[in-house]
Amino acid sequence: MANIPLVAWLIAGICFILSLGGLSQHETARRGNILGIIGISLAIIAALFQIEAITAAVSVLLILAIGIGGLIGSILAKRVEMTAMPQLVAILHSFVGLAAVLVGLSVYLWPIGHLVEGESGLEVHHDLIQKIEIILGVFIGGLTFTGSVIAWGKLDGKVDSKPLMLPARHFLNLLMILACVGLSIWFVQVESVFLGLLPLLLVMTISFVFGIHMVMAIGGADMPVVVSMLNSYSGWAAAATGFMLPNDLLIITGALVGSSGAILSYIMCHAMNRSFISVIAGGFGTGPVKKASDQPGEELTYTSIEAAEAADLLKDAKEVIVIPGYGMAVAQAQHPILEMTELLKKRGCRTRFAIHPVAGRLPGHMNVLLAEARVPYDIVLEMDEINQDFPETDVVLVIGANDIVNPGALDDPSSPIYGMPVLECWKAKNVIVLKRSMGTGYSGVDNPLFYKENTDMLFGDAKQSVDDVLYSLKS
Ligand code: TAP
Repeated sequence: MANIPLVAWLIAGICFILSLGGLSQHETARRGNILGIIGISLAIIAALFQIEAITAAVSVLLILAIGIGGLIGSILAKRVEMTAMPQLVAILHSFVGLAAVLVGLSVYLWPIGHLVEGESGLEVHHDLIQKIEIILGVFIGGLTFTGSVIAWGKLDGKVDSKPLMLPARHFLNLLMILACVGLSIWFVQVESVFLGLLPLLLVMTISFVFGIHMVMAIGGADMPVVVSMLNSYSGWAAAATGFMLPNDLLIITGALVGSSGAILSYIMCHAMNRSFISVIAGGFGTGPVKKASDQPGEELTYTSIEAAEAADLLKDAKEVIVIPGYGMAVAQAQHPILEMTELLKKRGCRTRFAIHPVAGRLPGHMNVLLAEARVPYDIVLEMDEINQDFPETDVVLVIGANDIVNPGALDDPSSPIYGMPVLECWKAKNVIVLKRSMGTGYSGVDNPLFYKENTDMLFGDAKQSVDDVLYSLKS
């Protein structure tokens, strides 16, 4: 009987691993989610069984807390717009950070399990390892908490998304880290619980300031990488909580979240050809707009077309590739795009989607939107699978995308996005770009694609433009 919670935790741990595996592909994502729900439900039930001498009042409190939390979570998840998903994830990470801080403080102060016979009766005693777990949990939890709140604020427009560039900010960060190291050494050496509280609370306060300062220095556009990084920190904070409590499942889960968040941050930075350090150092995308041509006096020209002309090009096409970007998410144009794909298919034209790894503003952003519109998975291809097919393509529709189709990333060493792999759509016969203006994308770089001979601009909100093209295609 005593082993039941342990077995349940083991099964929950396996569920979490399988869940992560399932979430890596859109075909299996639903199964991954279900496995995650089963895992966490098992973990909660097993944790309830582990509480010794549970009273009726505690049971009622626990059930109330789980019920209210579950209800708020379900309502939030149901209501949230796809474009607001990053801020929801950010605020959820802040809860994990805060929980790690609170658990750290309570494990330190709450004597159960740490009582020893002392000269003056029962005394609280923490060993060295336990103190290291507590101070680490409080530090990581603290910066995750405030950092995530600021990330949420920036993504939600509540905090100015411009990077806060304080003078000597790197020195300030270093100073805070050194102060925390010094305070931690003091904390582990001090015998009295009361005296140890001072360095512990100071580390907590500094970690709060550190989290705020670190994320304030990063521009709003880099927030997705920061959210993924904070996701990783929240995992390590949960693992530290697992060591403190002690709870093996929390250690496993925390390590899974911590490492998967770190891998995701790495993949995002790699796909943008940015170093992780350059993201954390902040200040990206704040320089002046880089023009497509640096030649003095050279005025680049572009051609714009109407929806009916775009439809004419599509009517003659046999091979079409659609490249969705952030603008498709803003315009919510995925539903009419599916209709257009089906119409073209009926006309004998093969239409496929090309997905760049960092299209949009969060990992898998485009895949989720296309899945929501029920676009069949077999026509949605990753960049590496489709990049060589552009020369044989009649028409490429770039829908609200910009940086991910910028040829300067390949041939202009002075471009801030130089080195980032991009979808080489300019090699197709015709390119139609659907966006509202000649404005730049996230990196603030002008796009030479727009001025190429085989490129036509179709200006307007992407959804409206797709609707208009559809109308012309039908008539
Ligand atoms: P962007 O380069 O940001 O370009 C999006 C374009 O959409 C803008 O130029 C904008 O032009 C257009 N747009 C906005 N609203 C629109 C609307 N309602 N209708 C039509 N067009 C609209 O996006 P991208 O090409 O998807 O590239 C993603 C960028 O984000 C990359 O630089 C990437 O590195 C960065 N990033 C991505 C991630 C992840 S994980 N996906 C994370 C961090 C950073 P107009 O204003 O002229 O309409």
